[in-house]
Amino acid sequence: MIVAVIGAGKIGEAVGNSVARAAEVEQVIMTRRNLSALPRTHLAKVTLTSDNRDAARKADVIVVAVKAGDAKNVLAEISQFTSGKIVISLMAAITIQRLERALPMAKVVRSMPNIAALIGEAMTAYSPGDRVTPADAAKVETVLGSFGDYIRVPEPLLNPITALSGSGPAYIAVVIEAMVSAGLKVGIPRDVAFKLVTKTLTGTADLLSEKKMHPAELRDAVTTPAGTTIAGIYELEKGSLRTSIMNAVEAATLAAEKVAKKFEGDD
Ligand SMILES: NC(=O)c1ccc[n+]([C@@H]2O[C@H](COP(=O)([O-])OP(=O)(O)OC[C@H]3O[C@@H](n4cnc5c(N)ncnc54)[C@H](OP(=O)(O)O)[C@@H]3O)[C@@H](O)[C@H]2O)c1
Repeated sequence: MIVAVIGAGKIGEAVGNSVARAAEVEQVIMTRRNLSALPRTHLAKVTLTSDNRDAARKADVIVVAVKAGDAKNVLAEISQFTSGKIVISLMAAITIQRLERALPMAKVVRSMPNIAALIGEAMTAYSPGDRVTPADAAKVETVLGSFGDYIRVPEPLLNPITALSGSGPAYIAVVIEAMVSAGLKVGIPRDVAFKLVTKTLTGTADLLSEKKMHPAELRDAVTTPAGTTIAGIYELEKGSLRTSIMNAVEAATLAAEKVAKKFEGDD
């Protein structure tokens, strides 16, 4: 399988490098206009070019990773080379309907990864368009699985998912920063606090996910009467951490819907 990644920026480059490691993939062609911004340390299977049309012509599967504002031009440019091909959009806000209008012969998939694609640990939600067959979906999952985990969802969930797990790494980064500051406040050196906090976060997430444990069960397991944890949780509840997080995701969902509306008639 030959995969083209149109728009090798932050996400596109990470995805292209991961896809190149998949055994099923013979070649990855990554494009962007300013090629000098890409490091020359790519895998042997990766080719770099600024020619989107040539990349789309050669590819079996095309991944589009430009900003939504560049979608109109880029989709028009590659459209004639997408007949019968799978096109996976990583772009926020661009609907399947709009992708199918711009690429009338392609089998389109809308997806939302996150920046953990940089280390092959993304969480990607995707929705296939009506033209995508079960065999195509298997190819899509090979591509998405090369840079992390994936889940198939109905398209209306993709704007809220953009707000939850697309933007999620930024919220978690803020939480990590806050906990490192908390460590400093109680006398723990920054590098020690950083290591403690990041590993506590990944360890907790892995534990919940592997044991399929409810978060409340874990919280109760480490909270003893009149102990240290309940003293900390009491302050977290006073600070309305849960409400703040719910409000943040709701605000980001509204923002995603607003951006989607902006691009609705952009044909
Ligand atoms: N960053 C994230 O965490 C994240 C998460 C999920 C989804 N996404 C989605 O991924 C997309 C890209 O986001 P990003 O953060 O990776 O942005 P980015 O770093 O700006 O990458 C976009 C890339 O597209 C290239 N580009 C623009 N016009 C082009 C053209 N005509 N032909 C070829 N390449 C072109 C740009 O490079 P040149 O200027 O050199 O052409 C740029 O490197 C967005 O639609 C976003 O919604 C991003």
